[in-house]
Amino acid sequence: MKKFLVIGNPIEHSLSPKLHNYWIRKNNIDAIYEKKLLEENELEILCNEVREGKIEGFNVTVPFKEKIIKYMDTLSEDASNSKAVNTVYKVSKNGEYKLIGDNTDIYGFKKSVPTLVHAAEGGSCGAIILGAGGASRAIIIALGHLGINTFAIINRTKNRATKLMQEIDPENYDPELIYNWCKDEDRMSMIKSKIIVNCTSLGLKKDDKIPLDFLKYKNNTLSKNIIFYDLIYNPAETDFLKRAKEIGQEAINGKMMFIYQAQQSFKRWHNVLPDVNQEVVDLLDD
Ligand code: ATR
Repeated sequence: MKKFLVIGNPIEHSLSPKLHNYWIRKNNIDAIYEKKLLEENELEILCNEVREGKIEGFNVTVPFKEKIIKYMDTLSEDASNSKAVNTVYKVSKNGEYKLIGDNTDIYGFKKSVPTLVHAAEGGSCGAIILGAGGASRAIIIALGHLGINTFAIINRTKNRATKLMQEIDPENYDPELIYNWCKDEDRMSMIKSKIIVNCTSLGLKKDDKIPLDFLKYKNNTLSKNIIFYDLIYNPAETDFLKRAKEIGQEAINGKMMFIYQAQQSFKRWHNVLPDVNQEVVDLLDD
């Protein structure tokens, strides 16, 4: 029986085993998918176990998406651009296994975003990104693929946002579009934007409050019908999404992104594209 894992620390919250084992059963595949709590010094051992054939492949979650990169033999384009790996699979080359690090979060986000966000009007419209970590980088790349190339970034630590934007697009880097949380919000809420994405970890804990003045967004005529998107899927409704709904805006959580990233990982490992349907969506609510 082939063995697959999701690794992280913490890992308890992960719904990946539930979803992957469901698809494994549906497709009559002889495999099992488990979660594993790891420490950083165990990453290399795990990768060697894949090379030795003890494990077929694995998903990577916080805080190892970047740290796993040095143990990969090759990176996909999305993994290389985002500097983050969430899926590891192997290919046989000259009698040896080589590990490929891929990033299916980018695909998952693109598939889950309403078509309204696609093809921004002549580049005159952009996105507001909350946070400047690895998740923000992946979302900026994904939105870029959809035709959105202007970003305003707000982060608690402004330097980190500056560094991220300089790295992603040094030619078009504009310091005017980097904002300090709580200080620059007046200026930021006047940006013409189709979507605001929470890429921070604020919201993972039930009591987390997001320090945004939502009324400013409600009164911003430039951003009529702005979509509030949270990468978090558990809890299903974060403070960010709850308050977006209160001001009458569309609020979307990270559930469909999670499902679509898993669908692509499944395809890499089993060469089968599993169904995404209502049963799968409901499965994660149980
Ligand atoms: P990931 O790779 O998942 O993006 P990360 O690199 O640790 O994780 O980034 C987490 C993001 O959440 C960062 O933007 C972080 O802000 P800082 O750069 O200032 O650390 C943001 N974040 C985490 N906790 C926060 C909090 N309590 N208030 C505001 N932002 C927070």
